[in-house]
Amino acid sequence: MTAGIHEVFRGSNFFSNAGVGKINKNVNLEFHALLHLNHQEEMLMIIGILKEIKTEENRVCMTPAGVEVLVHNGHTVLVEKEAGTGSGFGDPLYKKSGAKIIDGPEKIYENAEMIMHVKEPMPLEYPLIKEGQIIFTYLHLAASPKLTKALMKSGAICIAYETIQKANGSLPLLTPMSEVAGRMAVQEGAKYLEMSHGGHGVLLGGVPGVEPGTVLIIGGGVVGVNAAKMACGLGAKVYLVDSSLDRLRYLSDIMPGNCFLMMSSTPTIRELVAKADVIIGAVLIPGAKAPKLVTREMLPLMKKGAVMVDVAIDQGGCFETSKPTSHSKPVYTVDGIVHYCVSNMPGALARTSTMALTNATLPYALEIAEKGWRTAVMENPEIRSGANIIRGKVTYRGVAEAFGLEYTEAAEAASLDAG
Ligand SMILES: NC(=O)c1ccc[n+]([C@@H]2O[C@H](COP(=O)([O-])OP(=O)(O)OC[C@H]3O[C@@H](n4cnc5c(N)ncnc54)[C@H](O)[C@@H]3O)[C@@H](O)[C@H]2O)c1
Repeated sequence: MTAGIHEVFRGSNFFSNAGVGKINKNVNLEFHALLHLNHQEEMLMIIGILKEIKTEENRVCMTPAGVEVLVHNGHTVLVEKEAGTGSGFGDPLYKKSGAKIIDGPEKIYENAEMIMHVKEPMPLEYPLIKEGQIIFTYLHLAASPKLTKALMKSGAICIAYETIQKANGSLPLLTPMSEVAGRMAVQEGAKYLEMSHGGHGVLLGGVPGVEPGTVLIIGGGVVGVNAAKMACGLGAKVYLVDSSLDRLRYLSDIMPGNCFLMMSSTPTIRELVAKADVIIGAVLIPGAKAPKLVTREMLPLMKKGAVMVDVAIDQGGCFETSKPTSHSKPVYTVDGIVHYCVSNMPGALARTSTMALTNATLPYALEIAEKGWRTAVMENPEIRSGANIIRGKVTYRGVAEAFGLEYTEAAEAASLDAG
């Protein structure tokens, strides 16, 4: 191959501030024409990092450190102006990492081969998505027929963070957000126990001579364990309840002595809610709505001013009295019990969440950029499980079933595309 697209791209007037890589000042071509080069041969990619536009979303999909790694690997990274501001990463940091700062999403959609986001594209972005472009972000398509239809129509290659799955069944791009939400749940519980916030004024760790507070965590997965670690670290008395005996056995080996592991059942939960100052809902039944494990009839058993944090609210919530709230109005009270039910908790801790997300997404972004989407999908089963739509074909079974659409295996769609 002669001068690579990136060399040309960096030398164009469009990026007069170009500072990375070899600059070819004599070549000033329309780079979108170059995007049609055969990227099976071209191993470098133009990656677009967009500013989030969804309400209350301050995260950004890539830190300046992540951008630096991509640039170091020869890729060109276009970052939308002020994309990282909400997470405390200003444009100068991205510039220093070798990114090009671009005003508005239009030019990024026009020129990038892979678009990265945190949240799903919003309706005003639908017409900007180009055929063959890779969209790599959280998509949650089964919840949105409108987005599914728009992405099918676009002809894009849509790889969803949330369905990338390891051989052991874990979801590596959901895990960091569960870690943030679990740890944050204890922080929120402790905060709303304060009397000025409607709580009954118990300090979770207690003080010498005064017993600590009690935390009940229902569900001992990623959220539950992270919540338990925080609550135990504060010195609270922690009950962690799960329905899997194997999971409880494993947790009993790793959790500290102030964490008491219990098998989940209605009588156990009924008994424990009466003792708890903070109750954290952290159950998940994959592909199903969360079961209502704390019922309305249990509320009178609880201490007035206790706090319930329903992290599972994004799956409908595991408390019967839960309803989704937002960061601007996170709590409400039912029968004297404070309810915190924010469905996008990590959004409030944008800086930590952004860094945790980048740690998890970067290896996949690098692999897709280096191999091209087709080879990455064919070779890596984790990336293959992330492919939800390939050039109009639905390649994730759950999405096809949700909307009665035809399902095509991702490997088949990728090989068909290769011709
Ligand atoms: N609100 C937010 O911002 C936010 C952020 C991240 C995750 N979440 C949600 O938190 C929930 C938990 O996520 P996770 O990553 O920990 O899932 P996970 O799969 O790691 O853990 C779920 C646990 O629930 C247990 N469980 C299932 N049924 C149960 C029952 N009847 N009683 C007790 N335990 C039961 C499972 O055995 C498992 O250990 C999910 O609904 C997830 O979507 C919400």
